[in-house]
Amino acid sequence: MSKLARAASIEDLRQLARKRLPRVVFDFIDGAAGNERTLRENQQCFADWQLMPRVGVDVSDRSLATRIVGHDAKLPLILAPTGLAGMFYPGGEMAAASAAEAAGIPYCLSTNSVASIEEVAAAVPGGDRWFQLYIMKDRGLTDALLERAARSGYRVLCVTVDLPIQGKRDRDVRNSFTVPLRPRPGTILDVASHPRWLIGLLRSNVRFGNFVGSEPEGFTSIAKLVGTLFDPSANWDDIARIREKWKGPVVVKGVLHPDDARRAVEIGCDGVIVSNHGGRQLDQVPASVTALPAIAEAVGGRAEVILDSGVRRGTDILVARALGASACMIGRAFLWGLASGGQAGVTRTIDILRDELDNALALLGQRRFVDVGHQSAIRSHDHRHGVPRQAENVNAEPGRPRLASGG
Ligand SMILES: Cc1cc2nc3c(=O)[nH]c(=O)nc-3n(C[C@H](O)[C@H](O)[C@H](O)COP(=O)(O)O)c2cc1C
Repeated sequence: MSKLARAASIEDLRQLARKRLPRVVFDFIDGAAGNERTLRENQQCFADWQLMPRVGVDVSDRSLATRIVGHDAKLPLILAPTGLAGMFYPGGEMAAASAAEAAGIPYCLSTNSVASIEEVAAAVPGGDRWFQLYIMKDRGLTDALLERAARSGYRVLCVTVDLPIQGKRDRDVRNSFTVPLRPRPGTILDVASHPRWLIGLLRSNVRFGNFVGSEPEGFTSIAKLVGTLFDPSANWDDIARIREKWKGPVVVKGVLHPDDARRAVEIGCDGVIVSNHGGRQLDQVPASVTALPAIAEAVGGRAEVILDSGVRRGTDILVARALGASACMIGRAFLWGLASGGQAGVTRTIDILRDELDNALALLGQRRFVDVGHQSAIRSHDHRHGVPRQAENVNAEPGRPRLASGG
């Protein structure tokens, strides 16, 4: 049995990726901003909720199928936009997009990808491809990215709004993470002791594929790229203008406050992605799952609500569903699979989450994922602060979430 097949959980894939990648690259994926409190909370706060199973239900025939932003999907999962996937495995963006297509789920290409918008579209013409946009200082460049994505058949535009500037990520500063990697004694040793990854890297042309000609010269940190090209003055007027320009669905990624979710709906966005960028931007913000119920209520079924950040288990996806999300995005979970084994590794990530979700759905006493509603989640005791809270149905609380669909 291969190492991939033996990986039983997303954490197992993380350990495989840790072995396969030099520290500088592993840390770029694994790390987050500041004290990495939000990174930890994103996972731990799923434990604030418990799943309440029902028994005596015929669960012999089950379905995980759903619709995500107006399109059929076989699973309530989306591969999140992640910069530099092609640095983790040769052709990383194409590998991930192919795995997503085969699994019948959307793949979202990042603005900061290694492979360009056109290269990914040419390699994976089918599938539900989304494009993630950062708003550039040069609005001509922003519009050019939009036009290229539309011409290349990307269906959904995902505008990321939580990165006016780059979060401070200590691991990347300490490791001097740059593109291309800057040769320093520590980095050379680190890289040389991972020959399989290095051979792949030498076969790849790692650069910011969508910015060839406009990116800063020489060794570029992500913070430098962001500082040079991205617009910290971008605001809701710009998002509204982009909404007008893009003919297909628009989702806004990086919302934690219900008023921002309302604003996104008011300007005509089709979806709100509750996200803190996997803890990579402002540290010490609420976990996405903590922010989800109030956002689901604010949106009130007028747009789709998607949960992103911290998803590592099928049970996390069920909790998100019970709190009002239609689907979940995964970032690191699929990058660890990618780094461990390319397309087969991403497929392993999706298989693990599909099996866990299917197993949990049956044990919850539900036949169809879309039918999971607020009755399925109750608040846990607050373990982290040692304050026992009475278990109660979220429905009984003031400000309870109203679900977009599926009750
Ligand atoms: C290595 C890496 C690169 C990322 N690059 C981007 C990006 O270019 N655009 C974006 O909107 N989010 C980016 N993200 C954030 C992801 O889209 C997603 O919000 C985050 O990974 C979710 O948290 P999770 O990793 O716990 O699933 C990146 C995340 C990682 C780990």
